Amino acid sequence: MRKKIIAGNWKMNKSFQEGLDLSSEIINMVRDEVHTATQVVLCPPFTHLNAVAGLIGNAVNMSTGAQNCYTETSGAYTGEVSAAILKSVGCSYIIVGHSERRQYFAEKNATLAKKTDAVLANGMNPIYCCGETLDERNSEKHFEVIKSQVSEGLFHLSGEAFGNVVIAYEPVWAIGTGVTASTAQAQEVHAFIRGLVSEKYGIEVANNLTIQYGGSVKPDNAVELFSQPDIDGGLIGGAALQSRSFVDIVKAMN
Ligand code: 13P
Repeated sequence: MRKKIIAGNWKMNKSFQEGLDLSSEIINMVRDEVHTATQVVLCPPFTHLNAVAGLIGNAVNMSTGAQNCYTETSGAYTGEVSAAILKSVGCSYIIVGHSERRQYFAEKNATLAKKTDAVLANGMNPIYCCGETLDERNSEKHFEVIKSQVSEGLFHLSGEAFGNVVIAYEPVWAIGTGVTASTAQAQEVHAFIRGLVSEKYGIEVANNLTIQYGGSVKPDNAVELFSQPDIDGGLIGGAALQSRSFVDIVKAMN
């Protein structure tokens, strides 16, 4: 059975105190209400990570993730944060190649391959994001785009290393827009990604891969999305900024 993972990507939101308050609420609700093996990952801004990891403590079904990292381990790279440093503040996951990083910070697949390596070398799990823009979908290039994002960012890995990767499919046109991919559209792309992985690494590795969906996931559409055979979790933006809606999405994953 592959792991089910719901991650909350807070993006650049919440002051430090607001982040601690939100985390405490989520931790209490997850403890009281979530009785499944679903893994819950909180991805606050860098500055909050150590404190949020402290609040989570040793709850087995919760962990922290960072939203980005740098390719190098240490050195004169002013303003950057390495995977090794993130490991030292208790991170277990790092989001790599979110579409906002690709769009606003010009991150390319070759760089993302190096970031993925840095995350894995430090014993953490990359959540590697892929997804097409609206133009790419309208011109029916989405499969091609996703294939190059996934293969150029990940397919240099050994099968063993790949076993620690999580993929998130986030169609750019569905992020923060209130427009969700239909369950059929999401399932189609998830099955396509699993097929690519199967061709490259074999059926067993493909079957063990967690593929999250992201893009306007809300409590009222989560159950249907998560009922699809190739959707193994969610990467949640807006709805992760509020404890009730986030935990309701976690509870939709069974
Ligand atoms: P929304 O859930 O706000 O659409 O954001 C999705 C996302 O980008 C998560 O990484």
